[in-house]
Amino acid sequence: MKRLTMIGCAIAGALASTFTLPAAADETNPYIVHRQGIYKTVAGHMTSLKAILFLGHEAKGQTTYHAEAIVEALKHMGNAYPAGSDKGETKARAEIWTQPEKFREAGQNSFAAATALSDATQMGDTKEVMGAYKKLGESCKACHDDFRKK
Ligand code: HEC
Repeated sequence: MKRLTMIGCAIAGALASTFTLPAAADETNPYIVHRQGIYKTVAGHMTSLKAILFLGHEAKGQTTYHAEAIVEALKHMGNAYPAGSDKGETKARAEIWTQPEKFREAGQNSFAAATALSDATQMGDTKEVMGAYKKLGESCKACHDDFRKK
């Protein structure tokens, strides 16, 4: 029993070091770590919304929460791509700095789509919400296609 407990602890320890640490645990550039955290937050809410809108999860009353959380997270991106934050464990492409106007526009499009999604959830028409969700997803992809490394 004692041995089993020890094995259990060893497994728990191994799991903790493998799975609970962020994937890019070695990265220390605060801008890279921060922006990746925001993107993950946004993506998490998108995933939960997908479950509600398309997979039949019953939490229909929580779509506004998720949509607003996306808007809020995007508002808190702050200074996400300062000079020097192209080096490190990042998938940011050089075009972010060479085509800043285009990059900013992609960000604005996505923010507008997130706001539209939030508005749609407050009106409560499921079809509208689904459409707004898809548009937001397309805006993420549009930026990733041009500015994120594969
Ligand atoms: C204006 C451009 C832009 C928009 C809009 C955008 N992204 Fe990204 N996203 C990026 C870039 C660039 C990276 C790579 C950042 C890095 O590695 O430093 C990234 C990274 C990510 C990551 C990986 C984070 C990690 O763990 O490294 C996820 C997940 C993600 N984005 C989800 C989304 C979702 C969901 C949306 C839309 C709601 C979105 N993104 C909108 C540019 C964008």
